[in-house]
Amino acid sequence: MMLAIRTLQQEDAEVLLTVEAQAQSGMAPVQLTEALAVPDTSVLGGFRAETLVGYALVAKLPFDAELHAIGVLPAERGGGVGCALMEAVISTARRWQSERLLLEVRAGNQAAIALYQRMGFREGGRRKGYYPAVQQGSSAAVAAEREDALLMSRDVAP
Ligand SMILES: CC(C)(COP(=O)(O)OP(=O)(O)OC[C@H]1O[C@@H](n2cnc3c(N)ncnc32)[C@H](O)[C@@H]1OP(=O)(O)O)[C@@H](O)C(=O)NCCC(=O)NCCS
Repeated sequence: MMLAIRTLQQEDAEVLLTVEAQAQSGMAPVQLTEALAVPDTSVLGGFRAETLVGYALVAKLPFDAELHAIGVLPAERGGGVGCALMEAVISTARRWQSERLLLEVRAGNQAAIALYQRMGFREGGRRKGYYPAVQQGSSAAVAAEREDALLMSRDVAP
């Protein structure tokens, strides 16, 4: 089934929150609904038939653009949706005339890091202990370690 990418609008909020609840890219519902409402942020949706299967959120900064999140439904992973969304993110940044695309990713998120590398991103730094530990199950008694952030970027120029 063909994948179609389009920019999500405020009326897509409910379905976007449902997808994020499964994709778990780390965005709070309020961040997503706000992103749909403000002009310098674009939320791109990937659709199979009429069903939203993944999304990417990109924000315009004064000179650069920044990827805030990308998430694909678990059942749809490995099928090229992430790549197609990243291509749409890069096109959006190009339209904004951004110089670079920036992002931060958990150092242990191998799938995301592999996707970003494949899309031309290179590591440009690391923030020690930037992310809180991922909550494992419901036991709050085990204090897992915080995780580093990798800072990655790529040029946007054509
Ligand atoms: C990261 C994510 C968006 C990738 O989406 P996807 O649709 O599975 O990605 P694609 O199928 O387009 O894969 C593109 C490339 O990414 C890499 N990749 C994707 N998943 C991978 C995995 N599990 N292991 C290793 N590499 C992987 C590969 O290089 C792959 O290319 P290939 O299939 O030719 O080898 C998806 O795994 C996801 O939603 N993860 C949970 C949310 C998240 O962590 N988001 C990032 C932080 S905001």
